[in-house]
Amino acid sequence: MAHHGMSCALCGDSMIAASASVSLNAKPGADPRAGARVFATRGLTKTYRMGEVTVQALRGVDFDLEAGEFVVLLGPSGSGKSTLLNILGGLDVPTSGEVMYGEKNLTTADEKSLTEYRRSHVGFVFQFYNLIPSLTARENVALVTEIVERPMTPEEALALVGLADRMDHFPAQLSGGEQQRVAIARAIAKRPAVLLCDEPTGALDLTTGVIVLDALDRVNRELGTATVVITHNAAIAGMADRVVRLADGRVVGIETNSHKTAVRDLQW
Ligand SMILES: Nc1ncnc2c1ncn2[C@@H]1O[C@H](COP(=O)(O)OP(=O)(O)O)[C@@H](O)[C@H]1O
Ligand SMILES: [Mg+2]
Repeated sequence: MAHHGMSCALCGDSMIAASASVSLNAKPGADPRAGARVFATRGLTKTYRMGEVTVQALRGVDFDLEAGEFVVLLGPSGSGKSTLLNILGGLDVPTSGEVMYGEKNLTTADEKSLTEYRRSHVGFVFQFYNLIPSLTARENVALVTEIVERPMTPEEALALVGLADRMDHFPAQLSGGEQQRVAIARAIAKRPAVLLCDEPTGALDLTTGVIVLDALDRVNRELGTATVVITHNAAIAGMADRVVRLADGRVVGIETNSHKTAVRDLQW
């Protein structure tokens, strides 16, 4: 997370400055929650410079995400998946190219407006759950619901991921899969337009991973949250509406699944 700089992906804040934020949706109809396209990136490039060395993480990526869509982003390690997700989520900025969120150009947005974007519009789920150990499941979710408008209650969010009977457990009293479902509940309790998940099952065994994917699938179906899930496990691809393959910083394939595979029927 160090390279994410001063932004907190969990609450969307840039440092602590939660100050009066400018609405991203000054124009009516600009909110993708109202329907249509959530993201459109065009010609996205990202170059990291580390001293003398430069790494070209993205080499011209066009990526679309429609409202309500479930997309799996597949590719080998180092292919640029996390870089793309972090740019979509406003945690990082491209070197060139454009990111549209609905009618809002994120590439030209100021820091205040990006903070509001991360805080209210995007839910993040990472491989390691980033729960606060001294807070219960309910309290971990409440941390986020306290800072946004019209959130779900922590109880509703936890019930949606199948944790109604684990609300008062501390992270150490929960399995890895349960902790990840708390992280999902925390991410969706603010009713984000989009849920961005970077290897959400990367630290889990197969059985537990399936339960976590099932929770993501349920959120997508019941709340209509547009979802991007990064994985290098091709088996997950069957549950997606669309699979976008990255290799060496480029989109090398896009497949649409005419029939989605139920999570329990995915073959590992
Ligand atoms: N903050 C960073 N600084 C320098 N290089 C980075 C940084 N983030 C990613 N990279 C490099 O960019 C390339 C793509 O990384 P990443 O997007 O994390 O790939 P993936 O998520 O597909 O494994 C890799 O070569 C990686 O080492
Ligand atoms: Mg990655």
